[in-house]
Amino acid sequence: MKMIQTSLCILVVLLTVSGFPMMESGVESKKGIDYLAINCRKHNAVLTDFGAIGDGKTSNTKAFREAITKLTPLAADGGVQLIVPPGNWLTGSFNLTSHFTLFIQQGATILASQDESEYPMIPRLPSYGDARFASLIYGSNLTDVVITGNKGTINGQGKTWWVKYRSGGFKTISRPLLIEIIFSENIQISDINLIDSPMWNIHPVYCKNVIIRNIKIDAPIDSPNTDGINPDSCTNTIIEDCSVTSGDDCIAVKSGIDQFGIATAIPTQQLSIRRLTCVSPDSAGIAIGSEMSGGIKDVRIEDVTLINTQSAIRIKTAIGRGGYVKDIFARRFTMKTMKYVFWMTGSYKLHPIGFDPKALPEISNINYRDMTAENVTISAKLEGIKNDPFKGICLSNVTIALSPTTKKLQWNCTDVAGVTSRVKPEPCGLLPDKGTTMDCDFPTDKIPIESVVLNKCFA
Ligand SMILES: *[C@@H]1O[C@H](CO)[C@@H](O)[C@H](O)[C@H]1NC(C)=O
Ligand SMILES: *[C@@H]1O[C@H](CO)[C@@H](O)[C@H](O)[C@H]1NC(C)=O
Ligand SMILES: *[C@@H]1O[C@H](CO)[C@@H](O)[C@H](O)[C@H]1NC(C)=O
Ligand SMILES: *[C@@H]1O[C@H](CO)[C@@H](O)[C@H](O)[C@H]1NC(C)=O
Ligand SMILES: *[C@@H]1O[C@H](CO)[C@@H](O)[C@H](O)[C@H]1NC(C)=O
Repeated sequence: MKMIQTSLCILVVLLTVSGFPMMESGVESKKGIDYLAINCRKHNAVLTDFGAIGDGKTSNTKAFREAITKLTPLAADGGVQLIVPPGNWLTGSFNLTSHFTLFIQQGATILASQDESEYPMIPRLPSYGDARFASLIYGSNLTDVVITGNKGTINGQGKTWWVKYRSGGFKTISRPLLIEIIFSENIQISDINLIDSPMWNIHPVYCKNVIIRNIKIDAPIDSPNTDGINPDSCTNTIIEDCSVTSGDDCIAVKSGIDQFGIATAIPTQQLSIRRLTCVSPDSAGIAIGSEMSGGIKDVRIEDVTLINTQSAIRIKTAIGRGGYVKDIFARRFTMKTMKYVFWMTGSYKLHPIGFDPKALPEISNINYRDMTAENVTISAKLEGIKNDPFKGICLSNVTIALSPTTKKLQWNCTDVAGVTSRVKPEPCGLLPDKGTTMDCDFPTDKIPIESVVLNKCFA
């Protein structure tokens, strides 16, 4: 009896301090939807507790921001989960907090405001030069954050942004992304659908220990810069079971640009991408660069399906980037209707403020194996940099079937060096055939995040 009284007392205190009704997660809350997460939360709140109206017209920016402000103190007491219930919740940018779960229920859509004033301008990223709007959902210097649901949706309503961009707007300013998390660790983004982002969809930058899984991303195939997932200067990241249809790269691995990226010097490393499905007629399945000045290494990519995509993996760099792309491993790609299968570009002409001609990128140890492609226009365009060749390229067990309108020159290679084995059609002379016994490397160890066991939680 005494114990019950004490806990009631604590509950009352919590109610008083936080000033809103709150349910302790007890037996009753376990009746809810179960889901997997890096951490479950002690406290629950619902967006409507903060005056939100899900009619698709009323701005809920204040409700989201107030929810976060009021829930932040609970981070120190077992964390909190904010439930977005069915409805259409129009909002501008809001910030996340630590030990926090945003749970978007099936039937719920977070609708991104098309009003520019709902997105504060935030400082440029140290590894980039651009002024920028805050993303719709933004978090910095956090730990232990989950954005998940049982297939709820975030709709970026990007059309007005795309139209203004195409007519010359936002030339020197980045449009809002849907989700950006910076300088943070232990992040999970899973089991939600993202549609029509104004620009990139998911951007973890300077983060550690990131899980992105079961995400479906859709944007029109002609929408500008609607990259799917952009791991950027992050360590220990897994991206699995995602499906992306987009106007730009399905996944773009980055680490900052030119002087900014060189000075910041935070690489992307320990990255695993697996079971990706991608449609992107004008861009890559997986792009590496062109922003790679902080270095990109130890990337493993496997079990990828590409349909009507411009190229499978595209490494993009330029003189002035510095940095490196090395220890890249890819296997088991199934591809249909591709302009290129393999593409490497050493002259990607994007320099925000001029560049240092002595800052040469190092591209080495690139391994691709066990792939098939059908209906391909050009097997490979591999263009290194004069006096700075791309080295250690290895291709094995790759079968490419050509389209009826294929080009005569199937392998256009300059300034590259490497080897091949069992590759059809026959590769260029710079990638000599080493016979039938050679396989390119793929690591047998795991990156640490692959061993994380998720907890069963309830929403
Ligand atoms: C979110 O945080 C950033 C800095 O971390 C700040 O500039 C911005 O104003 C915050 N946004 C809101 C809505 O509080
Ligand atoms: C966020 O973390 C970065 C890197 O550790 C640090 O430079 C910055 O001052 C932090 N910002 C805040 C608001 O704590
Ligand atoms: C083959 O690729 C071409 C584009 O190069 C496309 O127009 C055509 O529909 C594709 N054919 C099949 C059978 O997918
Ligand atoms: C060659 O690659 C295919 C997939 O494209 C795979 O099924 C097959 O097992 C590979 N062969 C060897 C010897 O690894
Ligand atoms: C081969 O690539 C080079 C440079 O990358 C380009 O200038 C040339 O036009 C290409 N050749 C063909 C036949 O496409």
